[in-house]
Amino acid sequence: MMEKVVSGIRPTGFLHLGNYFGAVKTFVEMQHKYDCMFFIADWHSLTTSPNPDDIRQSARIILAEYLACGIDPSLASIYIQSDVKETLELYLYLNMNMYLGELERVTTFKEKARKQPNNVNAGLLTYPTLMAADILQHRAQKVPVGKDQEQNMEMARKCARRFNHIYNTDFFPEPQNYYFSHEAVKVPGLDGSGKMGKSEGNCIYLHDDDKTISKKVMRAVTDNGPQTPNSPRPEVIENLFTFLRICSSDETYRYFDEKWNDCTLRYGDLKKQIAEDIIKTVTPIREQIARYMADTPLLDRLAREGAEKARESAAATLHEVRRIIGFDR
Ligand code: TRP
Repeated sequence: MMEKVVSGIRPTGFLHLGNYFGAVKTFVEMQHKYDCMFFIADWHSLTTSPNPDDIRQSARIILAEYLACGIDPSLASIYIQSDVKETLELYLYLNMNMYLGELERVTTFKEKARKQPNNVNAGLLTYPTLMAADILQHRAQKVPVGKDQEQNMEMARKCARRFNHIYNTDFFPEPQNYYFSHEAVKVPGLDGSGKMGKSEGNCIYLHDDDKTISKKVMRAVTDNGPQTPNSPRPEVIENLFTFLRICSSDETYRYFDEKWNDCTLRYGDLKKQIAEDIIKTVTPIREQIARYMADTPLLDRLAREGAEKARESAAATLHEVRRIIGFDR
């Protein structure tokens, strides 16, 4: 039996290169090795914004972007969280075993509570329970997540262990984190900062057009150039080389590496090359995004088929859970 993998994607805006070379590439690789379920966590987004603009449309956009990046519905199930109502019943059962004190201690809860003091709602508090239900309903063994999800994952394992303990069963496996940060490349920002991120405002988006990409790359922070042969590169310059490493050929990388080492490198040339190669990487994805976005019936059909597979898996788990608790009589 193939190991089960589940991961949720919060709809927080458009995908950028950092997402692509981080989480998304990991998902795409995993779908060949594991039985994967990827879903768009639209319910979770209600914990912070009770009035999302158009929640269905933003889910569609993410769906289109993930499909464009290579998530293949014939290999992995991709679905929208709110299409699988089975999750809610499990969420309720699991909540009976979660305690106020431990939920209040979760760092992400404390942070959100500080950021939205007028909306410290129960959904926010029980965010980890919903996430545990997302995972446990498929009895997943592996969950690809970033470091920021460590505590939520600890809570998911706690849910599994507690349920097993209370009902004297070994029904739920304890889901393990599958970190993508080690295998995936950390894409730097173009502003000299360490990381490309939406909140940092230093992103190249997969839907950016050529001109926008060029402009962003040409504005990237540099220094006054290599001074002594074969010297180590300062971080801002190494960041630029990271783009060469992920988007360009080995030959191109070597060419600019030599130029750096013999102090003949001109940043203008380097940036032009980087822009060109990023554009080459992004163009086919951008075209696919547009193709999917132009075909709402296709997106809706794929979402429906994904949801059917997810519901089947969740229903089987729920059936057992009801029996274990005693609701089958
Ligand atoms: N909490 C995750 C995040 O912020 C999203 C998420 C919801 C998730 N449910 C999940 C991730 C289940 C993995 C498994 O990114």
